[in-house]
Amino acid sequence: MKNIGHAAAICLATALGAHAYASATPMPHIEHKNGRHALIVDGAPFTMLGVQAHNSSNYPDALQQVWPAVEDVHANTLEIPVAWEQIEPVEGTFDFSYVDTLVEQARTHGVRLVLLWFGTWKNTHAQYTPEWVKFDNRRFPRMLDRNGKTIYCLSPFGEETLKADKKAFVALMTHLKTIDADRHTVIMVQVENEVGTYGQARDYGPKAQALFAQKVPQAVLAHKKSPVPGAATGTWAQVYGPYADEYFHAWALASYIEEIAKAGRAVYDLPMYVNNALRDPIEPMAPWHGNFNSGGPTYDVIDIYRTVAPHLDLAAPDIYMTESDKVTANLDMFHRPDNPLLVPEMANSAPTARYLYQMLGHGALGVAPFGVDYADYTNFPLGSPLTDKRMSEPFAKVFAAFRPMERLWASWAFDGRTHGVAEGDDRKPQTIALKNWKATVSYRLWQLGDEQWLATVKEKPPGTETPSGGVAIAQIGDNEFIVVGQHARVKFDGAGTNADKPSMYGRVEEGHFDAAGRWVMERNWNGDQVDSGLNLTGRPVVLKVRMGTY
Ligand code: DGJ
Repeated sequence: MKNIGHAAAICLATALGAHAYASATPMPHIEHKNGRHALIVDGAPFTMLGVQAHNSSNYPDALQQVWPAVEDVHANTLEIPVAWEQIEPVEGTFDFSYVDTLVEQARTHGVRLVLLWFGTWKNTHAQYTPEWVKFDNRRFPRMLDRNGKTIYCLSPFGEETLKADKKAFVALMTHLKTIDADRHTVIMVQVENEVGTYGQARDYGPKAQALFAQKVPQAVLAHKKSPVPGAATGTWAQVYGPYADEYFHAWALASYIEEIAKAGRAVYDLPMYVNNALRDPIEPMAPWHGNFNSGGPTYDVIDIYRTVAPHLDLAAPDIYMTESDKVTANLDMFHRPDNPLLVPEMANSAPTARYLYQMLGHGALGVAPFGVDYADYTNFPLGSPLTDKRMSEPFAKVFAAFRPMERLWASWAFDGRTHGVAEGDDRKPQTIALKNWKATVSYRLWQLGDEQWLATVKEKPPGTETPSGGVAIAQIGDNEFIVVGQHARVKFDGAGTNADKPSMYGRVEEGHFDAAGRWVMERNWNGDQVDSGLNLTGRPVVLKVRMGTY
């Protein structure tokens, strides 16, 4: 539609029917290239610098505590729930007044939205379903345990539950299309929240038992190998042995969510995803033994979700683990050629802010610390004990550095040019392999002095008492780099064709990108500012570095 006028485009869109929109820009969507991914918003790659509101902030009054935090942190996206109980308190009667207020206020604040559909399951519970669902166990059955006892979690085999959830979700997506198809304020939808079941591997109700005794569907067999030797085909137990219960439950949940996502996308085709309460990524793989919520999209069943639920773009890790080795393992496990990396939740505690560099360097479509919202609530010890600016500030500094690059960074990541590290709990230096260059990132060093000399100095730089460093690098040319970071020393050395060649900085410009994506230099670092490497303090900076050999 490039060469036709806007009005003509609208007419054409209308004539095209259900899959065309009265919008000049394409629908938000995810693109893939060479095993990498980009979230496309308004026709161009977009880095989601997001925050997630608290669970009960999904009401117009509560939004008043949300927007100041969104502003303070320089987020470009707010993730916030839309609860089934609030849009359909009476069966068949829908109320979208909150959604309307939310979308309107997001536009006023210049912020995009990711809506979290709290439907059948919220952290595995039925608590966000309307009361007419919650207490009608006959029509909306809960799962049964091995002894036939009803447990808390709604069954994924409840046909009426699926029908009712789907109907409400479709109503929501239809409404979004009506109010937002021309603006794309809402860029993504999460379907359900942290699904799975605690305390029990799967449903043991009659329907579940009958299906469990049937053969594993061919598509699942083709994509999910058993971690232990088992039959090539056959029942779940025959093929997957001790993993059968968990895998069967993952299949059941993914199939249910697929139905909802598919129906929603048929009316309004936004990207959709599921989020995951993580299992330990480091402990040796073992069958479920009560150690995580069974059936959720944990790293070991991503294959099942990707196979069974093609209308979900990805399974996303909610990273509340704070140990650096676990964060790294999770990023590696969820970032796959068939599964774009998105971190829709992470702890909002100050030490985790450093992981933003690692995540964004890793090519995440987006990040969102949870509970960046000034409601009178903290999810400490999971997140920060603070509920004011002191909580948002560590994230604000990082977002402020990236925000002017929200488009550029996403393009570089899509091209495979970005890298990122966060200071490890061992506080040791790390290296980043670049094309014909290598960056070494060290921590707890003053801005002047070599490593050996500084090792003899007792005092350490302020703000480095606990791990707090992070660096993200985009290689934007053969010898040119954008470096963003805090509390770290970065040094470049030749590698590959530059190995063993002496090198030096050509330029080390501190600056920022303007709205048109042009670099604006503020000053050039030289002398003391580069003699001991590029030393980044607690004030994140953006550097444009040119290296050369001689
Ligand atoms: C993860 C969930 O997805 C969130 O909704 C929230 O409950 C946090 N855990 C805990 O604050």
